[in-house]
Amino acid sequence: MTASNDRTIATTAELSLNDLIAERLSRRDLFSGLAATAAVSGLALTSASPIAAQTAKAASFTFKELASGIDDRHHVAEGYDADILIRWGDPMFADSPAFDPLKQTAASQLRQFGMNNDFLGFIPLRADGTQGLLCVHHEYAESKMMFPGLGNDTRKASLSTTAEQVAVEMASMGGSIVEIAREAGKWLVVRTSQYNRRITALDTQMTIDGPAAGHARMKTSADPTGARVVGTLNNCAGGITPWGTWLMSEENWHYYFSTDQVDDQGRAKKGLGGAQEKSWARYDLPARRTNWGKYVDRFNADKEPNEPNRFGWIVEVDPMDPNSVPVKHTALGRFRHEGCENAITLDGRVAVYSGDDDRGEFVYKFVTAGKYDAGYRIANMKLLSEGILYVARFNADGSGTWLPLVHGQGPLTVVNGFASQADVLIDTRLAATAVGATPMDRPEDVEPGPGGRVVLALTNNAERKEGAQDAANPRGPNPHGHLIELLEDGGDVGATKFTWSMLVLCGDPAKPEHKAKWHADTTADGWFSAPDNVAFDPAGRLWIATDQGTSWAKLSGKADGLYAVEYEGAKRGLSKLFFRCPIGAEMCGPRFTADATTLFLAVQHPAADGAADWKPFGKASSAQDPATRWPDFKPDMPPRPSVVVVTKKGGGRIG
Ligand code: FEO
Ligand code: CA
Ligand code: CA
Ligand code: CA
Repeated sequence: MTASNDRTIATTAELSLNDLIAERLSRRDLFSGLAATAAVSGLALTSASPIAAQTAKAASFTFKELASGIDDRHHVAEGYDADILIRWGDPMFADSPAFDPLKQTAASQLRQFGMNNDFLGFIPLRADGTQGLLCVHHEYAESKMMFPGLGNDTRKASLSTTAEQVAVEMASMGGSIVEIAREAGKWLVVRTSQYNRRITALDTQMTIDGPAAGHARMKTSADPTGARVVGTLNNCAGGITPWGTWLMSEENWHYYFSTDQVDDQGRAKKGLGGAQEKSWARYDLPARRTNWGKYVDRFNADKEPNEPNRFGWIVEVDPMDPNSVPVKHTALGRFRHEGCENAITLDGRVAVYSGDDDRGEFVYKFVTAGKYDAGYRIANMKLLSEGILYVARFNADGSGTWLPLVHGQGPLTVVNGFASQADVLIDTRLAATAVGATPMDRPEDVEPGPGGRVVLALTNNAERKEGAQDAANPRGPNPHGHLIELLEDGGDVGATKFTWSMLVLCGDPAKPEHKAKWHADTTADGWFSAPDNVAFDPAGRLWIATDQGTSWAKLSGKADGLYAVEYEGAKRGLSKLFFRCPIGAEMCGPRFTADATTLFLAVQHPAADGAADWKPFGKASSAQDPATRWPDFKPDMPPRPSVVVVTKKGGGRIG
C-alpha cells in the first residue's frame, strides 16, 4: 500500500524540543548508561523507555521464520504487514510534480524523494513516537535503472548520460527529510510539513569545519576559503545523534571524480595525482565510472584536483531547522565512511563509530573532546568539531586497541609526509596504516549496542589471499563475510582498549568448504552471506541486513533480507530470516521506533543487481526492461527503491 496525504497532522507549535530530547534519551539510555544523567536533568523518560534491558538479558526472538528464496516481490514473516511508505520520485512537497520516468528533470527530482534509499533515521516529534522525521540516505544513482534507453550495461549506461541526466542524478542523491505520522495504525507521509527537505549533490550548500577546514588542499577555484562545499555523495549507513541531528556518511564518493586521461581500455589512467599521488592511489582516484566530470568541472579531477579532498567526510544536518547549513566535520576523518552511529561515554563525551568499506581497510572510532549536555543543543552541535579519531587494532589473543591518529604522535610526523593534523585527516587511510591498524574484510556498519558492546559487519573480501588470514579475518578468501562483537573496556564506549570475539562466520553451514560458523539450530532459511547494516532494537536485540550485490547467486542463491541474530547465552549465533527483498535489491536501513511497534526498512535498487542469474528473467535489467517492476508492477513504471514499514498485524512489538 502506498500511503501519502496532503494534510499536516500537527502544527509546529505542538512540537516541543523537550519532547524530542526526552524521546532521544529514552532510546539512548539503553546504550549509554545515561539514565542517571536524565534523572538529574529532570527529563522525563517515555513509557517506551527500555532501560530494563540494560541489565536484563535481551529477550529471544519469537517470530515464525520466513522461508528464504528469490522472486519479484518482498516477503515478511507471518503475522506482519509490510507496506510501502514512499518511493523514488514520490512527491515530498505540496507543489511537487508527479513522477514521470520519461520526463525527468533536475528541477522535478529536487522536489521528489531521491534514488536508492539506504540509511533510515527516525527523530520523534512527539513523545509517544506517533509523529517524526524520517532521515533517509539516497546512496547512488544508477543510470541504467533511471533513464529508459541507456541499455542494461551498468558502466556503459553511466558513461552515456546527457548533461541533464547527470543533473538529475546529482539531484537524486544525498538525502531526504520526510515528516511522517501514524494514524489508525498506519504511517503516512505529511507532504505539507515545514521540515521536509532534500539534501543533494547538486545544490546543497555546506560548510567544512574541523582541523582540515581552510587547508590549502581543501581549496578550489570555486572556494578559495577551503571551508565551503556544495553537496554530499554516496551516503550509505548513517547515524542519529543524542541531540537529534542526522549524520550522513560519504562512502563511494571517489566514483564521481573522473579524468579525461584514459588508457586503451577506456579506463582512468593511474599516476595522475602529482604531489597528491600517494593519496590518490590509496583512495582509487580518479575514476571513470560516470559522466559527471564531463559536464561539471568540479567533478573533473584534471581541472579541480582538490575537489575530491572535500568528500569522504561525515556531514551533520539539523533536521529541526529546514534552513540549517549542513557541516562536514573533518575531525572524523576521510575515507569511505559506512555508518556513523554513536553512543555516550561514561564521562559524557560522544563516541562515533565508522567502518571504511574497502578490502583491507579499517574500523574507526571518534571520541569528542567536549561533553554532551542534554539541555544545551546548540553546544552539542559543535561536539563533532573537535576530538580524537582512533583506528582499531585487533590482536590475536582477543584483545584490541584504539590507536589515536594525532599529528606528532608516533609515525604521524612531517618526515613521514604528514605536515599537520589536516594531512592526517585528509589521508586518514595512510595515517591508519602508519600506526599499525588491522586491515579488515570490508568493514560496513559498526553499531554500538547495550553495555559497551559494538557489533561490526565485515561484508566479505574475496581478495584476501590464502595464508593472509589473521584472527579477526580468519578466512582467505572470505566471500561470505562475518560479524565481530567488540566489548569496550569497562563497558565504556570512550575506552581505548577492548576485547573482541567472532559472533558469526557467514556462509552455508551445510557446506564444509564455506567454513561457516552459526548456532546449530540455524536453518537453511536463516543463514546468510554479506552482512551490511547492523541495528539493535529497543530490547537490545540484534538485526542484520544483507547486501550480496551482483554475486547473490554464487553466495547464497537467496534474496537479500533482514535477519534476527541472537548474541547472548546458549542461542548465540542463531539467525532467523524476517524479511526478504525482491530480485536485484539489497536490504538497508533497519530502524525501529522506541516502542518497537514499527520497523522501517529500505529496499534499495530493486531489479538492478544480478538479474542475469535469476532464471525467470535471465538477463541484465534496465529501466525499460527490468527483472521486476516492484513495487508498482505497472508496465510504464520502472522499479522504484522504496521505504517499507513493517508492523505487527493487530499491533504489538516486532520480533
Ligand atoms: Fe554502501 Fe558499504 O555499502
Ligand atoms: Ca551499506
Ligand atoms: Ca546501523
Ligand atoms: Ca554494501
